[in-house]
Amino acid sequence: GALVNPLDLHSYQALPHALLCVDPYGDIAWIEPHVPDALVQDVMARKGLVGDDVQVVQLKKGEFLMPGFIDTHTHAPQVPNMGAGQQYELLDWLENVTFPMESRFSDVDFARHTYKTVVRRVIDSGTTTCCYYGTLHVEATKVLADIIHEYGQRAFVGKCNMDRNSPDNYVEPSAEASVQGTKELLEHIRGLPPLTSPRPAHDTDRSQLVHPILTPRFAISCTSPLLTSLGQIAASDRSLRIQTHISENLSEIAFTKSLFPECSSYADVYDKHGLLRHNTVLAHAVHLEDEEIALLKERGCGISHCPTSNFNLRSGICKVGELLDRGIKVGLGTDVSGGFSPSILAAIQHASIASKVVSFQHQPGHAIAVPHHLFVNHSPLANKQLPIPALLHLATLGGAQVCDLQARVGSFAPGKAFDALLVSVSSAAGNPAVWGVEVDEALGIERGMGMSKEQHLERMLEAFMFCGDDRNISRVYVQGRVIGGKEWAASQP
Ligand code: GUN
Ligand code: FE
Repeated sequence: GALVNPLDLHSYQALPHALLCVDPYGDIAWIEPHVPDALVQDVMARKGLVGDDVQVVQLKKGEFLMPGFIDTHTHAPQVPNMGAGQQYELLDWLENVTFPMESRFSDVDFARHTYKTVVRRVIDSGTTTCCYYGTLHVEATKVLADIIHEYGQRAFVGKCNMDRNSPDNYVEPSAEASVQGTKELLEHIRGLPPLTSPRPAHDTDRSQLVHPILTPRFAISCTSPLLTSLGQIAASDRSLRIQTHISENLSEIAFTKSLFPECSSYADVYDKHGLLRHNTVLAHAVHLEDEEIALLKERGCGISHCPTSNFNLRSGICKVGELLDRGIKVGLGTDVSGGFSPSILAAIQHASIASKVVSFQHQPGHAIAVPHHLFVNHSPLANKQLPIPALLHLATLGGAQVCDLQARVGSFAPGKAFDALLVSVSSAAGNPAVWGVEVDEALGIERGMGMSKEQHLERMLEAFMFCGDDRNISRVYVQGRVIGGKEWAASQP
């Protein structure tokens, strides 16, 4: 059937008649880009695929496959707060809305009950790989990791480190206690049972779906000794990912600088503690100074662009185009509940709007008049609206790069895991906002008039990105297994 496959920042493949083979381990064996229906059996026979153990899935009209979304930044315990607190900016929002909710996760039963609904909702929104923050509680965060493992999502899970500037009932008693809890969580997650049929592999990115991630919440909530200890844990394991917030809000930046007067910038605080490297995920990056951008590039850090949250908490607008032009890895984050939606589709929509606002600021009175398909390949993205291929990249391959999983996920290629969405934009999906198959007729596809099949598939992708929601996500695959989606939910007892 139809397949959408991101290639890089500037291009993606739209293949109306592709044949993709998934092996018994859930990895992609091969992709034949152009196979008419009548030739499917011939191609399979040529590839040696015969017998009862081969299952063929034929997509219907209005359906296509694309790589699963990668959410590079979200807070699982804040999902119950979605849609609350938009009147605040960051520091007041943390104090009045966020910390009170997070403190409730000292109750492990509450955590279990809540996290089940959270993870289910994130999966059904089409997120196949997710970077989760838990709370500061070790037990509740173990439960979060257990649920993600049970539901079969690919994820990074961290407990927040916070030993200062936090409420009395929601703060860790010491740096030592915070480090001890972190080590306990690392051990727990690494001890989760590996995939049932893993390819023989020494690489945990292949044998495990759930991984631990160091999560110093942000510089304000961590003492220097705590950051130093976390830097030491990181130094002992290059594959251990790190996630934190950076340069989100002006008051936050000023407070950070006052806490670390010996550091030359916000980024320098993390750098001085050994926390900036190729697998560090930095959320927001709204107000970075020039030297900070250069430092992040040198260290190979990735940025999680969280436009829904940046608008909602009035933090500002990340200059994504400029970061991309400078060769920095960028993915999308929902940042629930700074962001009010768990869906990467919302992040795509708001990333588009954010880039258009930046373009207005740089060309007052000149709305961009060039349609995206006329952009010259590899034209700079700074101060321009992000074209569709760039938005798709941010949601998939870019996110994979940010969490250092580009060898496993983010696009369809032999040897990568089959992490995918079966998208339906047909009228049967029940979302009247998205064009249905009846559009085929309106555009004369059947009669060979109007758009080509490739153009029609591009049109379906754009409609899904801007008007789609979880009603249009029929199946969510991780490592070849269906773990969610509308069709999956309907099949559950
Ligand atoms: N900075 C520190 N903690 C948080 C958080 O929970 N959300 C956001 N958006 N920024 C933060
Ligand atoms: Fe956040």
